[in-house]
Amino acid sequence: MIVSQSTIVALVTGANKGIGKEIARQLGAQGMTVLLAARDAARGEQAATELSIETRRSEKPKSVISSETLTFKLDGSENSVQGNYGVQIKAKAHWDGTKLITETERSIQGSTVTTTQVFSLDASRKEMTVDNTLTVQHGYQSQGANNTGRGKDVFIKSRRSVNK
Ligand SMILES: NC(=O)c1ccc[n+]([C@@H]2O[C@H](COP(=O)([O-])OP(=O)(O)OC[C@H]3O[C@@H](n4cnc5c(N)ncnc54)[C@H](OP(=O)(O)O)[C@@H]3O)[C@@H](O)[C@H]2O)c1
Repeated sequence: MIVSQSTIVALVTGANKGIGKEIARQLGAQGMTVLLAARDAARGEQAATELSIETRRSEKPKSVISSETLTFKLDGSENSVQGNYGVQIKAKAHWDGTKLITETERSIQGSTVTTTQVFSLDASRKEMTVDNTLTVQHGYQSQGANNTGRGKDVFIKSRRSVNK
């Protein structure tokens, strides 16, 4: 299981223009994962040209929380982002129908680590599933070794208001 915790996910309707678009921009600037909803898919996609995703992890000791924010360009082009500890990360994202797919690549201690996350909403639009795949390329082959991990996170929209 890959530990990946986006803290707050905001779903903004009417987000392709006006107040909705500005609210989505401001929530994203605060580090939230923002899902833009629009009745016209093309207008919605045009409104979202960039997406920022913040991932928080608890380190040892558990009270220490590390945070990393990656910005993806939604036209599929690669973005080079500085992650934690000065690590350079290649970040890409694209839409596959209604699914959003993000990909990252970084080098950790000589190994190339890639992640793929597939974001999808259920029909009720209240449940978001994130399928995570993490692969480590060590640069050598070891028989029977598994260098790929897979996991799934499910976020359910709550009526409860959340204070940051
Ligand atoms: N702007 C202000 O200063 C202000 C001040 C106070 C209150 N308001 C209120 O806040 C709301 C938004 O204002 P705005 O200026 O952001 O308006 P806007 O720029 O016209 O944006 C309205 C958004 O709502 C969507 N929308 C409209 N009718 C819809 C429907 N029947 N079903 C689903 N989506 C629909 C539009 O999608 P499409 O692009 O597909 O049409 C668009 O994304 C309005 O109710 C307005 O009266 C605005």
